[in-house]
Amino acid sequence: MLSVKTLLPFIYLGLVYATDFNAFTLHEKVAIAPNGFVSLGSAQPEQTITLRIALAQADKDAIVDALYSVSDPSGSKYGQHLSKEDVEALAAPSQATKDAVGSWLRDNGLNATTISPAGDWIAISVPINKANSLFDADFSTFAHQDSGKQIIRTLSYALPKSLQGHVDLVHPTVTFPESADLTSTQSSKTKRGFHNLVGRGGPSSCAKGTTPACLQDLYNIPKKAATYKGNSLGVTGFFGNNAHYSYLEKFLKTYRPDMSSKTNFTSVGIDKGSNDQDAPSVSEGELDIQYTVGVATGVPVTYYFIGYDSHDNLDGYIDEANYLLGLKNPPLVLTTSYARTESSISFKLTDKLCHLYAQLGARGTTILFGSGDNGPGCASGKGKSQMFEPNFPSNCPYVTSVGGTSGSGPEQAWDGSSGGFSNYYARPSYQNSAVTRYLAQHGKTNTGRYNASGRGFPDIAAKADDFAILEPDLFVVSGTSAASPTVASIVALLNDMLLSKGKKPLGFLNPWLYGNAAGAFTDVSTGNSTIHCTDNDAARGFSAEVGWDPVTGLGSLRFDKLVSLLGL
Ligand SMILES: *[C@@H]1O[C@H](CO)[C@@H](O)[C@H](O)[C@H]1NC(C)=O
Ligand SMILES: *[C@@H]1O[C@H](CO)[C@@H](O)[C@H](O)[C@H]1NC(C)=O
Ligand SMILES: *[C@@H]1O[C@H](CO)[C@@H](O)[C@H](O)[C@H]1NC(C)=O
Ligand SMILES: *[C@@H]1O[C@H](CO)[C@@H](O)[C@H](O)[C@H]1NC(C)=O
Repeated sequence: MLSVKTLLPFIYLGLVYATDFNAFTLHEKVAIAPNGFVSLGSAQPEQTITLRIALAQADKDAIVDALYSVSDPSGSKYGQHLSKEDVEALAAPSQATKDAVGSWLRDNGLNATTISPAGDWIAISVPINKANSLFDADFSTFAHQDSGKQIIRTLSYALPKSLQGHVDLVHPTVTFPESADLTSTQSSKTKRGFHNLVGRGGPSSCAKGTTPACLQDLYNIPKKAATYKGNSLGVTGFFGNNAHYSYLEKFLKTYRPDMSSKTNFTSVGIDKGSNDQDAPSVSEGELDIQYTVGVATGVPVTYYFIGYDSHDNLDGYIDEANYLLGLKNPPLVLTTSYARTESSISFKLTDKLCHLYAQLGARGTTILFGSGDNGPGCASGKGKSQMFEPNFPSNCPYVTSVGGTSGSGPEQAWDGSSGGFSNYYARPSYQNSAVTRYLAQHGKTNTGRYNASGRGFPDIAAKADDFAILEPDLFVVSGTSAASPTVASIVALLNDMLLSKGKKPLGFLNPWLYGNAAGAFTDVSTGNSTIHCTDNDAARGFSAEVGWDPVTGLGSLRFDKLVSLLGL
């Protein structure tokens, strides 16, 4: 009798413990590995994996609200960007979340490293077998068929009860690299092969390809050097895309004889990145540096170079944003010429990255991304081939997406310019009237191939064809990779004028672009994007139209008109 009585509570407690312990709830799952990856079975149990864990914000909307309030020209807080400490306070996890995660780490004998200044990201390094039991996962090795590279991912993972509501995601888990290497938004490269430029009209400086002089003439960009010391322009580079100092020097001598060829940029390594000068040139880094240093005359340029230690490009995006948020003065403009398809990243991961861009925007950084070079994109998978595929990070409502134009007299849509509508993010209110107008007039074309309620992109465009770069020989490249640095240079030169007059830098552009800057664009309304699907050869994508369109956005920026609009 007695023993039964004393045993009962123990059995009862044991059951509760067992239930709690097993109370995992599925958090993210994909049915199969993406095309091109083959599972080689469970990963080696002793192999160490580093997992980045995103903690829930106490109030997820607080940053977004703050971003809009400092970016809306009609609001009383316009331009009053937040300090590092203010952003950290708004992005921080709640005390309850910190406590829950802290005791989970303790209970499991784990040491975590905090990898974001707000404390909303941590990293742990654990053996695979431990990672499997911590998250009820099956970390496996997957081979990427084309490159032969191997990666570790799990097709699903779960959170124990104690972490539910406190952890937003764990990476790397269900999101695979898009290909084993990065996809940059630079589409084509030919040696000494300018396209057919003769008789295209526009400035004569554009007759021999796109050079700094051509862009200066086309957009009325000043040649005079910027002077404000605290100004800054950041360029993102991912491993492999080194930018060579000596090639820049030759580029400036050749194409900017009016400025010092010793004008330099600073390289900052993230994830053990080093802008190694012995590495072979693959154009993207040279392009991004030559068209920022060479166009944003006199603006200090920093190359944020992400190393192999980031393991995949998505870790690189996370680590770069967190690195910049840790700076007292993050760059006032950041241009990134890399893109990938929206559906290749889980919504949770996309959303957390998008939130990091909102944090940077709230600090006053203008975040620019090339929209991509695959036109409206082509969804892969059976039955999906008629659907367009939007791109990340242009799908994020808190960044400015830059599409491409071609020619110069006048500019037309560049046929590779990516654009369309997000399936993850609804249309933000700042673009409501522009996008509604487009849909009302042209929405019937391509009906059913895109999600009309989604965030439309790109927001703006710039020339994307026939850029001359030196590496050290002349190469000609095209892509929205070229358009984004050009826009970054325009914004940085405007910031120089604003700051010199004691005004605030432009920060997150979109509410201002859509709401107030209508007169400062050259609307691009001819040409179209084309789509290349495997089972559906080159076909028409979207057309450029009067007003906003999903190829060239609102059009290309005119520096002189922006100057008068800003009262400079
Ligand atoms: C955690 O860190 C402490 C102090 O650096 C160390 O003694 C301990 O072995 C670490 N534990 C694990 C599981 O790595
Ligand atoms: C630019 O800076 C790098 C790194 O400090 C240096 O090696 C290079 O010589 C500099 N280039 C010029 C033209 O001064
Ligand atoms: C379309 O976009 C909305 C967000 O605007 C989203 O909620 C919905 O799931 C999307 N539809 C599809 C089929 O992806
Ligand atoms: C698309 O634009 C190209 C020029 O970029 C033009 O040759 C073609 O006719 C256009 N196609 C359609 C269907 O408008």
